[in-house]
Amino acid sequence: MKKLLSLCILIISILFTTQSCTNAQQKNQDSAQFMEENISFAAEQYGLMLNKVEDSASIVNPKSFIEGKMKYIRPQEWTSGFFPGNLWYIYELTGDEKWKTMATKYTEALDTIQYYTGNHDVGFMIYCSYGNGLRLAGTEAYKEVIVNAAKSLSTRYIPEAGIIQSWNANKSKDWECPVIIDNMMNLELLFEATKLSGDSSFYHIAVTHADNTIRNHYRPDYSTWHVIDYSKSDGSVRHRNTHQGYSDDSAWARGQSWGIYGFILCYRETKDQKYLDQAEKALNFIASHPNYPEDGVPYWDFDAPDIPNTYRDASAGAILASALYELSTYSDKMDYKAWADTIVASLASPVYRAPLGENGNFLLMHSVGSLPHNSEVDVPLNYADYYFLEALKRKRDLE
Ligand code: GLY
Repeated sequence: MKKLLSLCILIISILFTTQSCTNAQQKNQDSAQFMEENISFAAEQYGLMLNKVEDSASIVNPKSFIEGKMKYIRPQEWTSGFFPGNLWYIYELTGDEKWKTMATKYTEALDTIQYYTGNHDVGFMIYCSYGNGLRLAGTEAYKEVIVNAAKSLSTRYIPEAGIIQSWNANKSKDWECPVIIDNMMNLELLFEATKLSGDSSFYHIAVTHADNTIRNHYRPDYSTWHVIDYSKSDGSVRHRNTHQGYSDDSAWARGQSWGIYGFILCYRETKDQKYLDQAEKALNFIASHPNYPEDGVPYWDFDAPDIPNTYRDASAGAILASALYELSTYSDKMDYKAWADTIVASLASPVYRAPLGENGNFLLMHSVGSLPHNSEVDVPLNYADYYFLEALKRKRDLE
């Protein structure tokens, strides 16, 4: 009797193990298929875009596709690094050398931007282009470009306030030294420049900016203001406003994502627990928010009064997903990877991902640039594609 019982237990456990293996194998297979389909779609769609871009008489840089027309931008626009960055990510995801050639060409078209001091965005512009180029092609000359760009960004550091000034003063808004939460993203360039040059002043500026952002930019519920205006003489806070959100007191979705991504990268570079804590608290704001939708892609502002009858912002979802994949390697407080997978699955569905040959050949539809300015509302944006591709790459690395 005892023998029979043992035999039964053995058979059941073999069946159970076999079933678990089959489930795991199936999951891996589904995931590999999902990845393969998305990578080949990205390559085809951007291949079509490149055909058009390469047909132009001069080097152009696509940002969006609005009312049936491609919107090209100058190198000085804050989004100029994303198109070359997208080409680098497609190179990394496909391994096809042709993308490297194109990525190099459109990266090097931004050569003058290393000296750009007109706003804080030089971090986005240079790190998404040259930063990825250095990482993937190892081009020695790009190191100097990155260090020069960090020097340019550092000219905007205001020691009295311990922050990097994002935008220039604005009399009509009574802003003396406006800093936007988006600026957390530019710190990556500074951390890299310290590693490349050995000059720790870039690192010092980055952590001081991050510390003052924790101090002044977040509300008690860990939602972020968009703009903090500082006094240049004593560093006190003069105003707390929005620029692209619904109101001064609302939580603009992309800003919330920028902050989270920024503090996760600060943790990566410093291993200082306070940055991880800040990111996780800001994430809790999203996870527990009644207006955060099931599919994981936020409305353009968490406090938009017409939710659910208003726009989603695919860019905010893509930035968030990419940040969550990285966070999943540092913390298991929540299943951050599962959360990121939900967002990426939504973005890759026909609800957000464009059909091949449409949408100006951008990957994602339904992003919002600035709704209060009626600018780039419910359109594709090159940075939504950038963080979607980065999220795919991070997902692939994890799996
Ligand atoms: N950094 C500008 C924006 O997110 O719209």
